Amino acid sequence: MAKQRVLTGITTTGTPHLGNYVGAIRPAIAESQRGEFDAFFFLADYHALIKSHDPAMVHQSSREIAATWLALGLDTDTTTFYRQSDVPEITELSWILTCVCAKGLMNRSHAYKAAVQANEQSGEDPDFGVTMGLFSYPILMAADILMFNAKKVPVGRDQIQHIEMARDMAQRFNHLYGDTFVLPEAVIADDVAVLSGLDGRKMSKSYGNTIPLFLPEKKLQKHINKIKTNLLEPGEAKDPADSTVFEIWQAFATPEQTAEMRQKFADGIAWGQAKKDLFELINSQLAPARERYEAILNDGEYLESELKKGAEKARAQAAIMLAKVRKAVGLAAFK
Ligand code: TRP
Repeated sequence: MAKQRVLTGITTTGTPHLGNYVGAIRPAIAESQRGEFDAFFFLADYHALIKSHDPAMVHQSSREIAATWLALGLDTDTTTFYRQSDVPEITELSWILTCVCAKGLMNRSHAYKAAVQANEQSGEDPDFGVTMGLFSYPILMAADILMFNAKKVPVGRDQIQHIEMARDMAQRFNHLYGDTFVLPEAVIADDVAVLSGLDGRKMSKSYGNTIPLFLPEKKLQKHINKIKTNLLEPGEAKDPADSTVFEIWQAFATPEQTAEMRQKFADGIAWGQAKKDLFELINSQLAPARERYEAILNDGEYLESELKKGAEKARAQAAIMLAKVRKAVGLAAFK
């Protein structure tokens, strides 16, 4: 039986951090190594253009994300790993979907509504700073997914609406033109940790509270030292349930190590010591991949060859789907 197709995209606006690693990258790579699924992973760099008009940032982020996934051991023979912008068929499909997608559906998109609401609150024109890219973001995302007949789409909760919109577009297209697209489903991983950041809120680029994944050792230590703690003194028992240090510990530790740390909290470990232990745990786990990362990051040749390999595989499939779609809508040769 053919393996089930799983697909997910990573928007290339930022540097991967511990939260991305624990919540998305680590489970995806582990899954790829088990080889149970036919996995498609891609750098959503067309999506990055919606969020950023800084070319150097978009470029650097793509490079860092690609190097991160490769350094962590993504198997690019059993998976398909590519850059969205290397597959121009995706933007073509995006246009065709734009022509079946109701405008009202896009009006309801959370990302767009949030932008409008922020404008209204600050007394601006509702569409101030809203590009058509932002408005139709879910259509591009639908094209990413529907192009490859992806059945399962692992995403964060904030993306569920987009997957439902992709389903809507697929259904609408299938209804108008005959059965063409598989209806995708969001997969939300409940068993992976959502990490808090330095300030105790969810670790997220938009809060500026992240710990980047492959910081040089010294800087990693400095960041870990900045994690917010309370004022309890050494010797006073500390509550693991209320501690970012413990939460991050747990995401990297074995169950035995977690039990040990829980005991140390009860025994009143000093925050400085807990952070030192945390640094050592994370550092020892990440050091080998960090070394590969640094080498890969500067090896444009290698990065390019890996991504080109993925793009070739992706385009071979995209060409078949697009030919079918073009024919279905009436774009066909005269002879
Ligand atoms: N929009 C997604 C995010 O910000 C990234 C993304 C783009 C994506 N295309 C996708 C995710 C297709 C899954 C499938 O997280």
